[in-house]
Order: sequence, then structure tokens, then C-alpha cells
Amino acid sequence: MTTVRLNSADPVSFDTDALIVGFRSGPEGPHPATGAESLDAAFGGRLAATLTAVGFSGKPGELAKVPVFGAIAAPLLVAVGLGGSAKADTTADAETLRRAAGAAVRSLAGTARAALLLPAESADQAEAVALGALLGAYGFSRYRTNGEVKEPVGDLTVLSANGADGSDGIAGRASVLAESVTLVRDLVNTPPSDLWPAKFAEIAEQRGGAAGLSVEVLDEKQLKDGGYGGLIGVGQGSVNPPRLVRLSYTHPEATKTLAYVGKGITFDSGGLSLKPSASMDWMKSDMGGAGAVLGALIGVARLAPKVNVVGYLCLAENLPSGTAQRPSDVIHSYSGKTVEVLDTDAEGRLVLMDGIARAAEDSPDLIVDVATLTGAQIVALGWRTAGVMANDDAVRELVVEVAGAAGEGAWGMPLPEELRKGLDSPIADIANLQPERWGSMLAAGIFLKEFVPDGVRWAHIDMAGPAFNKGEPHGYTPKGGTGAITRTLIGLAERHASI
Ligand code: BES
Ligand code: MN
Ligand code: ZN
Repeated sequence: MTTVRLNSADPVSFDTDALIVGFRSGPEGPHPATGAESLDAAFGGRLAATLTAVGFSGKPGELAKVPVFGAIAAPLLVAVGLGGSAKADTTADAETLRRAAGAAVRSLAGTARAALLLPAESADQAEAVALGALLGAYGFSRYRTNGEVKEPVGDLTVLSANGADGSDGIAGRASVLAESVTLVRDLVNTPPSDLWPAKFAEIAEQRGGAAGLSVEVLDEKQLKDGGYGGLIGVGQGSVNPPRLVRLSYTHPEATKTLAYVGKGITFDSGGLSLKPSASMDWMKSDMGGAGAVLGALIGVARLAPKVNVVGYLCLAENLPSGTAQRPSDVIHSYSGKTVEVLDTDAEGRLVLMDGIARAAEDSPDLIVDVATLTGAQIVALGWRTAGVMANDDAVRELVVEVAGAAGEGAWGMPLPEELRKGLDSPIADIANLQPERWGSMLAAGIFLKEFVPDGVRWAHIDMAGPAFNKGEPHGYTPKGGTGAITRTLIGLAERHASI
């Protein structure tokens, strides 16, 4: 696990393997960002001209590695672009710093130590640099045997003029956030042969218990006896039976309780409504919502805000077999409502409906569910922007705002009432699928809303795209599992803390 520290040392003489330096772009070419001005003197004022000569202009995320010829103690300088002048919007500025730090650290895999000289005067900036650096130092080499893997940077230092004065808390906080995200990325990247519902529940017990959470696990017998028809129905086609995990964090001075519910399909083949192979090979990521809830609960327990948070992990494996549920089966959900399963590939909403109804029993002030729920989310908003729906406009706006502050893309989406009739079933209370494909993300939201008791505030985050990066790494985001929405959930808990 990579570590980070803050240090007010002189960057010129600091002993490290690579010095990362932030540059702004300007009409006269790149120039050192705030905090890095003195460095230029060590290079006889020729650093900017050298960078221009190698084609570096300081655009956001742009990288240039330059030899130092003894001008500074570090043998390598990595220039990273921050774009034009610092944004007045400190939220946008923080994300620029996180991405730049992440991209630079990511480019240094195979290097033991790195120091970052990026704008870090304020606590928010220093945290952004530390967090971006830690998130960029991610690798998943568990399944490599050839020894050629470049391990991520292990030892990071954020150089900040304010580093000495009680900033331990900043590095500590960034580490907690990064460790939560790292756990989620690891879980998402783990193949389904090594992560089935009971195994996920065991990891939640171990990791959650170690962080001080109370953890309860319902096995398939308890789920059946308890009337969790959705979890049982989705899980019955697999030899790996479903689980419902309840994690709880409480603070003695809390006045509010939040409930998080995560979709945890450890593999989604579609079931008897089988997916084509090209849509299936990355469905190990269909537990990203449950991962985010576990990561967030652990992060909350370690940061200890004055709020109560319960988390539910709705874990099942969706496979076809002779015992699998069939299209046209009718499920008795935990809420008591009956659901006709028209398509076994619309399984996420079936496990979430039980999780949401159960979460309502904790009398939460707010329920937030997180799920890789629909391909339609990707059609509507692309790979990096989650869709946020809610039964309350202010709640939806709050979730979008908190996600934005964390640098996690999210956008508000409506829940048009007229879509409800598309979910009418000729024999049950509701069907799990609307007959047409248009607006499927919203229809899924409308379905879930049916299981939220009247008067309970609720938001739904569809992150089918953001949970898994099928493309190239960017900023602090690696290929594969991203850990998306984990930090949003931690941020939401902090927003509900009493002061
Ligand atoms: N897990 C999928 C959604 C998904 C798609 C997640 C792509 C990540 C990337 C979900 O269970 C699913 O299969 N949804 C169907 C629903 C449809 C049958 C109503 C979909 O979106 O096609
Ligand atoms: Mn599915
Ligand atoms: Zn799914």
C-alpha cells in the first residue's frame, strides 16, 4: 500500500527518485505554478524554455519527463500541466490537481519514491494533491506471474510550504479516502471465480469489522425465511447462493441516519435472458455498487463523522441453469409487492428492491442506492457520468453537488410519472421491464421508487458506465475497476453530520 506524507522541505535538495512539478499554460508558454517558482532558479531560469523545446505547453494532464543534469537532488523531473490560471472555482481547481497528480504518479510506475510540487497552500489543495497521487498509484498485479509488472510508486511526499503545521490530518484523510477506493477497485477487478456472494460477505465481515463496523450477514436460508424473494430469485440459478450484508456505523452524537444500498451482482450473465458474450465479459463489475457501499462505510468509520450510516450489500450471482428463475416467474419481494420477471437480465432492480425495503426499517433520513443498473445510463450520459434520480428535487441536487465536489461525474435525471404504466404486469403488482427500450434508465428508477415507503427521502445512482473503465487510464483513474461513487457516499455522510 502506497503511503503519502506532507513535507515543507526545499524541493531543490529533497531526496527522492522523481520530482513532479506543476506548470500553468500561458501565451508565453508554460510557467511554474504557485509554489514552484523558486525551482526555476535552480535551472538558471531555463526550465520553461526547455519544456517548450520538448513540446510541453502545460495543458491539463500533459506530462513531460526531463533530465535534471544535477540541478536538483532528484534525478528526474516530471512536469505536469495544470492548464491556464488557477480556477476561481476551488472545486474545479481541486479536481485539476487530483487529475494532474494522479497522471504524473501513474506515469512513474516502477519508481520507488516521488515528491509532488503542485499548488498546495490550502488544506483542500494539499488534500487534492495527496489524494490524486495515491489514486494514481494503483496497480492490480495479483494475477500476474511473469515478474515484469511495474509496481506503483510506494512512497509519496507532497511538498507544501504549510506541510509542517499540523497537516498530518490532511495526509491521513487522503489515505483513508484512497484506501476505500482501492478496496473497491480490487473487488471489482477480482474475477468472479474468486469473488462470489459468500466470499464478498466474508471480506465485508473482515474489513468492516477491522474498521469498527457492526456486520451482519443473512445467508440463503435466512433470506428465504425472511421473504427476500428478489435476492433468492436472482441467486437461485447459481451454486453460489445469495447474501445480504448489513453494515452499521453509529456515532453517539449523531442526529441523522443514512442508509446506503448497493447492487452486488458478483457476475451478471443475464440469467436465462442470456447476454451476448461481448456484453458479458466485463460483468464481474456488476458488484461495483455494493463495493462502493462497503468502501464508503469503512471510510466513514475511519473518519468518524457525527452521523449514523447503515449499508446494505445485495449480493447474488446471476447465472442460467436448471434452477434459475424463468422469464414470467413471479417473485414475492421483501416489501410484500409481487413482481413479474419478464427479463432475468433486469436483475439489479430485483435485489435492490429487497435491500431498499429492508433499509427503510432503519428509519433513515435518506436512502441512497448505488448500482451498475442499466446500459441506458451509458447511452444517455457516457462512461464517466452517473445518472442521479430521486423522489425529492433537493436530495437529487445535493447528491449531484457532493459528487461534483469529489470530482465524480454525476448528473440529475428525471423520474417521469408516465413511465410507470409501462411497468404494469397483467398478473402481478409490477413487471421488472418496460416493453420498450427508450428511457430504460428512468424506468429502472421508477421501478425502484415503488419500493421506497411514502415519506422516505431516496436517491438512486446509476453508474453502469463510471464503475469500470474499459478504455485507457486517465488522470487518477486506472483501467478496469474505478471505485466510482465511493467518495461521493463518504461526502454525503459528512454533509449529514451534526456539528
Ligand atoms: N448489469 C447490467 C447493466 C450494465 C450494462 C452495467 C452495461 C454495466 C454496463 C444490468 O443488469 C442489465 O443487464 N440491464 C439491462 C436491463 C434491461 C434488460 C431492462 C440493460 O440495461 O440492458
Ligand atoms: Mn443484467
Ligand atoms: Zn446487472
